[in-house]
Amino acid sequence: MKALVNRVSEFQKKARDAFEKVDSLDDLQVFYTQFLSKKSELNAFLKELKNLSDAEKKELGPHIQTVRLSLTEGFEQKQKELRKQALDEKLASDWIDVTKHYPFEKGAQHPVSQIQKRIEEIFTSMGFEIVDGPEVETEWHNFDALNIPSSHPARDMQDTFWIRSDQKNPHKNSVLRTHTSSVQIRKMMEDGVPVRMIVPGRVYRNEDVDTTHDATFYQVEGLLVDKGISLAHLKGTIHKMLSELFEKEVKIRFRPGYFPFVEPGLEVDIWFECTDRQGKKKSQWLEFMGAGMVHPNVLRNCGVDPSEYSGFAFGFGLTRLAMIHYGIEDIRLLFSQKKDFLSQF
Ligand code: PHE
Repeated sequence: MKALVNRVSEFQKKARDAFEKVDSLDDLQVFYTQFLSKKSELNAFLKELKNLSDAEKKELGPHIQTVRLSLTEGFEQKQKELRKQALDEKLASDWIDVTKHYPFEKGAQHPVSQIQKRIEEIFTSMGFEIVDGPEVETEWHNFDALNIPSSHPARDMQDTFWIRSDQKNPHKNSVLRTHTSSVQIRKMMEDGVPVRMIVPGRVYRNEDVDTTHDATFYQVEGLLVDKGISLAHLKGTIHKMLSELFEKEVKIRFRPGYFPFVEPGLEVDIWFECTDRQGKKKSQWLEFMGAGMVHPNVLRNCGVDPSEYSGFAFGFGLTRLAMIHYGIEDIRLLFSQKKDFLSQF
């Protein structure tokens, strides 16, 4: 018993000395292992207690517990201090100045997106719904259902990126959609008629790229089918849309045009006035879009009775409209990622 009491006092003194020297979390860990863990001498003392008499246990037991408690308290206190110190040091060395780049360089919407947003606002105000469709389309939706069978020469009007063309069944072949007209079919087959929608979206053609052509561009399709719809509704809608967009009364004209999915088919031109670089006034008719009355075959393909319903459809190039609207002469600039150019809009 006596020997054990002495060893405990010695242990206590050793622990105190060691504790004094603790200077880091690593030191503290070493201290813990040596003086408080299961492997420590302190734990061995507790085991040895078992061999003593009850009276001795009563005396020495609480003493060992007191020693353990005071070491544990010291350890926890020190651990808190050292952790705080480490955190403070890290914060002092690791900080970043979030205001360094102030004022921030602001991004902006791309000119084509700006026009798209405006067009969407105008059409929604006229009760049109905005609809989406897949860019990888079946041959059937892109061509056959739109009254363009595989033998039809009109297929050559649109140079196509084929993804799959080896199947007899046009539902199984796929293309990058050459126009947004395929969504006319999807929408009528899914929701039936009456319908009043626009489809802004990306289309793909195997074009030679020049100042006015790109292989990827944006179109807006329009479709309105109901009872008693005529070309007058089409003219009114387009005139209203363009006048709102250009914030003045615009002049448009209809010319006969051919698209297999409309009958009669038209080209719509817009009277365009601008001033060229030399300051000379330039005015001309610009071809703006294809349009017409939805062909009865197209309505039938979508399960709509053409003796009951009629409608108009149109499709224009959003990219082209952005060029007209902002006076941009080269389509390639629009998708060039050139910040100098894009930040002008
Ligand atoms: N889809 C035609 C094109 O891309 C445009 C169009 C749409 C024409 C609707 C008539 C009716 O050229």
